[in-house]
Amino acid sequence: MTQMKLIIIPDPVLKAVAKPVDRVDDDIRKIFDDMLETMYEAPGIGLAANQVNLLHRVIVMDTEVREGGEGKKPVFMANPEIIWASEEPSTMEEGCLSIPGQFADVTRPAKVRVRYLDYNNEQKEYEAAGLPAHCVQHEIDHLNGVLFVDYLSGLKRNMMIRRVQKMMKGSESL
Ligand code: NI
Repeated sequence: MTQMKLIIIPDPVLKAVAKPVDRVDDDIRKIFDDMLETMYEAPGIGLAANQVNLLHRVIVMDTEVREGGEGKKPVFMANPEIIWASEEPSTMEEGCLSIPGQFADVTRPAKVRVRYLDYNNEQKEYEAAGLPAHCVQHEIDHLNGVLFVDYLSGLKRNMMIRRVQKMMKGSESL
């Protein structure tokens, strides 16, 4: 497995819409594996292809440890699609590996059902509530060029982007 370079805001690939994959073949499985390694290394609980400069509709997630679980429980999804969302909302603090160090409350449907192709190219459905529901919606947003800061006021969003730019500049000059 190879670690990939994480794309940081503001980069146009984060605002681009990713394209569906034809099928999950060895090339996509390699991307799944590399993305998962990159996500664990960061560390994060979800990663979308846009964040590693690829415009395939591919995401990886693992919320197990953050939820108090012990083992690794990776989830691989290609062409994920929300086929049902609850009317009941949920508000949770979110962050993003492409917007390092910044966090904000985001309100989304509390429960969702997602249809996707798994690691073996089989069509599956994933039902999630709580943290995994926020995570899967956050990652699918990425594939549509949407970031969690897009749910915030322009003022707050710009403030966060400026903070990240300042931080990245600081780390480059070291
Ligand atoms: Ni993100």
